[in-house]
Amino acid sequence: MIIAIDGPGAAGKSTVAKLLAQKLNYTYIDTGAMYRCLALYALRNNIDANNVEGLIKASEDIEIFLDESNKVFLNNEDVTLAIRHPDVSRLASPVSCPRPVREIFVTKQRNLAKKAINGVVMDGRDIGTVVFPDANIKIYQVASCDERAKRRYIENVAKGINVPLEKIKEDIEKRDYTDMNKGYGALKKASDAIELDTTNMSIQEVVDFIYNKVLESK
Ligand code: DC
Repeated sequence: MIIAIDGPGAAGKSTVAKLLAQKLNYTYIDTGAMYRCLALYALRNNIDANNVEGLIKASEDIEIFLDESNKVFLNNEDVTLAIRHPDVSRLASPVSCPRPVREIFVTKQRNLAKKAINGVVMDGRDIGTVVFPDANIKIYQVASCDERAKRRYIENVAKGINVPLEKIKEDIEKRDYTDMNKGYGALKKASDAIELDTTNMSIQEVVDFIYNKVLESK
């Protein structure tokens, strides 16, 4: 059973995906965290977002490990917090644009899913369209830009990251644009995905909605 949750940044996909995976005892795979690892690696090694060859080599060289408690490891270093830094958020979208980079990551994502025991909840931008076009359930989770900025602001405060709400909104709008216009793997709703506008929904309501879809499909 593969559940694909796609949608724009800060729409609450990972919060929902984590809870859903827990409830179903499935493996959660955060593909955004994987591209964030590439962005962090690029930042640290001065690989420019336009240096496609450098990004391809980095994508091939880096080892990413996602553990059961949703910690993220880059070449054996725990980078769970580091990949949430606003500089990394900003770079994650451009470094994930070149098609060869995406193809390397899509293979990594499929391989991770193969190792799952019960089922997989995978969230990202192109899961239902490219990574698993045959996913059992596809959700396209959206929320208004204001609501997403608010959610990201609250999340940042909890992590001790201090960015003004207006700046977050501006970053989200820029990231939406890059994510939707990257050609291969661009953010778009799969034709057979269920679109879920979560602007006025609680996290629990979203989790329950998808959970019921899973029960219905069994
Ligand atoms: O979901 P997120 O905000 O952690 O993702 C970070 C960036 O990674 C996002 O701006 C676009 C990119 N991404 C992608 O291109 N494809 C995915 N499947 C997941 C994320």
